[in-house]
Formats: sequence, structure tokens, C-alpha cells
Amino acid sequence: MLKIVIDGKEVEVEEGLSVLELAEKIGVKIPTLCYHPAVSAYGACRVCIVEVIEKGLSKLTTSCTCPVESGIEVKTNSEKVKKTRKLIVEMLLARCPDAKIIQDLAKQLHVEKTRAPQKNENCILCGLCMRICREIIGVDAIGFANRGHKRKVTTPFEIQSDVCLGCGACAFVCPTGAIKIEDVEDKRKIDMWHTELGKVKCERCGRYFFPESAVEYVKRKSLQDVDGFLKLCPDCRKRVLANKLVCGW
Ligand code: FES
Repeated sequence: MLKIVIDGKEVEVEEGLSVLELAEKIGVKIPTLCYHPAVSAYGACRVCIVEVIEKGLSKLTTSCTCPVESGIEVKTNSEKVKKTRKLIVEMLLARCPDAKIIQDLAKQLHVEKTRAPQKNENCILCGLCMRICREIIGVDAIGFANRGHKRKVTTPFEIQSDVCLGCGACAFVCPTGAIKIEDVEDKRKIDMWHTELGKVKCERCGRYFFPESAVEYVKRKSLQDVDGFLKLCPDCRKRVLANKLVCGW
């Protein structure tokens, strides 16, 4: 067990946690945008910044990437932290003024306006979509392109990726809602990834429900034979299961 002081309170904690995970465990709230417990931490948005004091030296660091070490003192809301976090949110607000999550954060931190030039982007370049795609879905369909102010997340060569399943995990985790998925009858479109995929038609009710490539992927990865089941939309699957349970067929 490691002993550390967080916001003036001494706590004992097992090894291997980040400062953010420790804070969550003991009920100390630290704001985050690019953190997701299912994937590796990347430290991109920087709103989870904290002050860490070690051997008399103080530094500001992102709590999601900072491992807990014995003897450190962490301040999650010191004047230094508050001032820096406000500045970070001010910059994010300038980049993505329409993102609700950033507007809410700005309100909480009393950031009324931003001094930086406004950009009207939706993406904060946190890379969470890429990490989910790579680490959880396992396909790596998107990545960073370009440098500096031209940096963006996109598909290789900015054309439809051969490996994108259209599963929507990227849109699901995106903190700002920058990735829009459009389901139009038998097609799924993701403009941000230059992608359009055909969807599977439910054999029972005739509704188009999920991209063919994603269904094929699930079939390939499943250890059991799920072929029959994946021909049905989620609603019909539930009905079939309920009938099986109630009537035995
Ligand atoms: S949550 Fe830690 S840097 Fe984004």
C-alpha cells in the first residue's frame, strides 16, 4: 500500500492507480474530457490538471496520466490548479464554442468569455475516438493527420477506410459530439470518416438495423454460432428470446 496526501487528507492506496482513479475512488471530483476507464489515458484535454508536490517541488500535471507514488501530496483544487484549469477551458471554449460539455465546464469554472480567437470546431483532438477504435474494437480505422493548427483526426488518405465497421463506438465516446452518425434506411453514413456502409435487413420485421461489416465482424469474433441471431434486429431478438423463455420456442 502507498501513503499519499490528497487535498490535505492522508490516504492509503494500492499500487497501480492514477491520481484521477484514486480521486474517483475516494469521492474527489476532478473534471475530465478525454478520459475513459476502458482505454489507456492520453492526457490530451488537460482539464484534469492537478498540483503534485514531491520532495518539496511542486508541478502541475494531468491526473489521468500521473501514477500515484508514495509520499506525494496532491492538490486538486489549489489556486494554481484553478487558474490553469480556467485558462485551459478558455482555450477549449475558443476552439469549440458550441460544444455543450465545454460550455457547461466553462460555466462551472466561471469562464464567461474567451480571449483567444474563436475557431468553431467541434473536435478537441483528444484522440478518445482513436483509442476506442484501436484498443477496444481492435481495427484502428482512424488516426491523427497533419501538424499544428491543421491537425485533425481522420481516415488514412481521407477516404473511406477498408477496416471501419461503422460500429459507432467513436461517436459514442466523443466528449463533444463531433462525430455524427447518420442512419438513412439501408445505409449508415459517417461524414467525418468519409464513410458510407450498407446495413443488414432484419429477417423478421424487414428493418435495416446495423452495418453489414460490423455484423460480419461480430460473427468472425464470436466463439459460438451467432449467425441466426445476427439476422434479426435487436427488437426482434428480444422478442424471440422472450418467446423462447415463456413458450419454450
Ligand atoms: S482527462 Fe486527463 S487530460 Fe483529458
